[in-house]
Amino acid sequence: MKPIGHTVIRLEEATSTNTLALENEAYLGDHGLVLLARHQTAGRGRMGHGWVSLPGAQLQFTVVLHPVLPAGEVPVLALVAGLAVAQAMEDVLGLAPALKWPNDVLLDGRKVCGILVESRPGAGGTQRLVVGIGINCQGRAADFPPELRERLTTLAEATGAPVDSEALLQTVLARLETLYQRLAAGGRAEVLAQWRRRAPFAGRRVRFPAADGPREGQPCDLTSEGFLVVQTDDGARHVQVSGELEWLA
Ligand code: BTN
Repeated sequence: MKPIGHTVIRLEEATSTNTLALENEAYLGDHGLVLLARHQTAGRGRMGHGWVSLPGAQLQFTVVLHPVLPAGEVPVLALVAGLAVAQAMEDVLGLAPALKWPNDVLLDGRKVCGILVESRPGAGGTQRLVVGIGINCQGRAADFPPELRERLTTLAEATGAPVDSEALLQTVLARLETLYQRLAAGGRAEVLAQWRRRAPFAGRRVRFPAADGPREGQPCDLTSEGFLVVQTDDGARHVQVSGELEWLA
C-alpha cells in the first residue's frame, strides 16, 4: 500500500477538494492521494454547513484512504484525522490543541481546524474515504465573517507569527500514516487513549437527538469504537454514533 501523501495535487482553486475527490475515480481510486486547493469556492463542512475559504490563508486538503481495517474500526479514522492534526501542531508549532468529538481541533476553546470525512463503497464491502481537512493558518479571526469570529482562531494568531504551512501539511500526513499503521496493527485502544488525553470533557455539555426529541447531557467517555458516551442528568448513558450533536459548553 502506498504511503499517505505519496502524491499531492496542488490546485489554485477548486469547488471543494472533498467533492472533487468523490467525483473523480482517478482520485478516489488512489489510496494516499492528497488534493490541496489554495481556495475553495464551495467548501463544505459537517452537518450540511459550508466552509468559509480565505484564499491562501488556510491549509485546505483532502486525503483519500482505502482503509484495510475491520469494518468496526473505520469510524475511528474520523477521530484519528483530528489527532494527527493536533500532533502536527504540537510537533511543528509547539502548541497544545484540544480535540472536540468527533474531530474539531481547538486552541483556547476556539476552532482552528475542521474535518469532514465522507465515504463511498469500494469493491468487496470495503469503504473508500475522503478525509477533508481545513486548517486556519495565516491571518486573524477578524478576517472571517463577523458571525464566525468569536468561535474560531488561526495558528498565526495563536503563535504570533506566520506559519510554515508546508511543514505542517507534511507533518499531518506523516502523523496520519503512523496512526493509520498503528490502527492496522491492532492498536485501536492505544490510539483512542491518545485522542482521549487531548479531549477534556469536564464542564462540557451537549444537546443530542434522541427518539423522544433533543436531550442534553455531559460527555463522559469514548466507547471502544470511538463513539461518544453522554450522561444525562438522570444518570442514563447514551452512545452517540454520528456527529449530529450540538456542543453547548
Ligand atoms: C467542519 O468543521 O464542519 C468541517 C470542515 C471541513 C473543511 C475541509 S477544507 C478541505 C475539505 N474540502 C471541503 O469542502 N471541506 C473539507
